Amino acid sequence: MEKRTQIWAHRGYSLKYPENTMLAFEQASIHGADGIELDVHLSGDGVPVIIHDNRLERTTNGRGWVEEKSSHELRQLDAGSWKGAEFSDCRIPTLEEVLDWVVKRAPYMTVNLELKRSRGNPSYDRLAQRVLSLVKQYRMLEKVIFSSFQHPLLCILKEMESQAQTGLLVAEPIHQPWVYMKHWKANAYHPDYRLLDLSTLEILQAQGIRVHVYTVNHREAAQKLTSAGVDAMITDCLEDIRDALEEKN
Ligand code: G3P
Ligand code: MG
Repeated sequence: MEKRTQIWAHRGYSLKYPENTMLAFEQASIHGADGIELDVHLSGDGVPVIIHDNRLERTTNGRGWVEEKSSHELRQLDAGSWKGAEFSDCRIPTLEEVLDWVVKRAPYMTVNLELKRSRGNPSYDRLAQRVLSLVKQYRMLEKVIFSSFQHPLLCILKEMESQAQTGLLVAEPIHQPWVYMKHWKANAYHPDYRLLDLSTLEILQAQGIRVHVYTVNHREAAQKLTSAGVDAMITDCLEDIRDALEEKN
């Protein structure tokens, strides 16, 4: 049977709903996503929270650095109005809240946790430890793929838990990425889709390395990538990309 490319909702269904909120994740599930991608930072009191930027201004009504606020302070913020007045009830979720929801409501989903670096202190160990401990507590190790642009962070995480699945995010061309992947003991390659060529895809997959591309918002690109056999694509435009793939089949 032909392998199907999975569709993962980037920051949830972020084209239509406020990114990285429970609403965006719920809508991703309603609209048929096979997985969700979400960005994780640590709050000042060490709680893994879901937000993309390390500052609050773009997606909330707060100001300042995420890492300098307690999880309680972050919880008070409106994380939806920037996208539309009707979303003013949306809050910054904790990772625990998301995992709890996945386990109860969408256990089939793959969860791609992108670990973000804090501003001043990289504190990789603390972030890796906290995130890993929650994922294990919710028995989600098999459904989670940890990704990051900070490749040493993924290495630390893998040393803490050898069963953890890791994916290296890449925004610049890499020479022979399969060699690089082996060096970091990674399970998957997460490139900007425009960096991927077919022969690289073939070599990676032949070596057992999965390929998950970001952020595919164009129908034609999505159709080409699925024909080429990428394992998953991360998109903002969930319904449009899903339709494009169905149309092709
Ligand atoms: O995981 C893919 C993508 O989310 C990486 O970039 O900046 O959207 O988190 P960014
Ligand atoms: Mg991300």
